[in-house]
Amino acid sequence: MTSEEFVRALAAENDALLARLAPDATLKPEVEGALNVPNLLKVALKNEVEATEIAARWLVTTDDIDVKLAFARQVGDEARHYRLIGDRLRALGFDPDAVDPLARGYGPLFTYLDTLKTTVERVAAGQFTREAIAVVKNRQFIEFCERAGDRETAALYRDVIEPDERYHHDLGRRLLLRLATTPDAQEAARRAARATLELAEELQAKALATAGVHHAPGC
Ligand SMILES: [Fe+2]
Ligand SMILES: [Fe+2]
Repeated sequence: MTSEEFVRALAAENDALLARLAPDATLKPEVEGALNVPNLLKVALKNEVEATEIAARWLVTTDDIDVKLAFARQVGDEARHYRLIGDRLRALGFDPDAVDPLARGYGPLFTYLDTLKTTVERVAAGQFTREAIAVVKNRQFIEFCERAGDRETAALYRDVIEPDERYHHDLGRRLLLRLATTPDAQEAARRAARATLELAEELQAKALATAGVHHAPGC
């Protein structure tokens, strides 16, 4: 199959699986205990710093200028998201510098992404798929913020962060069109995308079971 056909098929498969991450039920507010916007923003800090770092690791290990620049752009955007979220936390009365998002180490998704060795797997997993997950999760988080009456956090996500995440997904699409041209490359890309979605689903189930968190923002 051509890379165009492959990317179209992969997008359709991802969308079908993403629908499981976004059942209507998750759009209802599910506040339990300290589940509130500031605590979800602290989860977001960890996601953003991990997204920054994985793109940075990949940026230095490729000779392909187009790929290098795509990851460089992502590094800058995710680092900026980290700062913007920190500023928002400060406005809400929390000191972002008191948060060490990596105090408990890297998460399972970062650890998995860090094992990927080829560019086609990296862009399939880390950009095309992970950023599609981020768009779904951010949409849920925006809704959560609005229900909680926090219009400013909702606007930050809707107007600033979300368009960047969409752009990262599109970078992944563009690179896949160029790189996923052989059956082997397509198979590797599909496997990496599947594993990323499975991890996201697993993590969401765990977050739901332990903290009632449905809608921690993605990156
Ligand atoms: Fe992103
Ligand atoms: Fe981000």
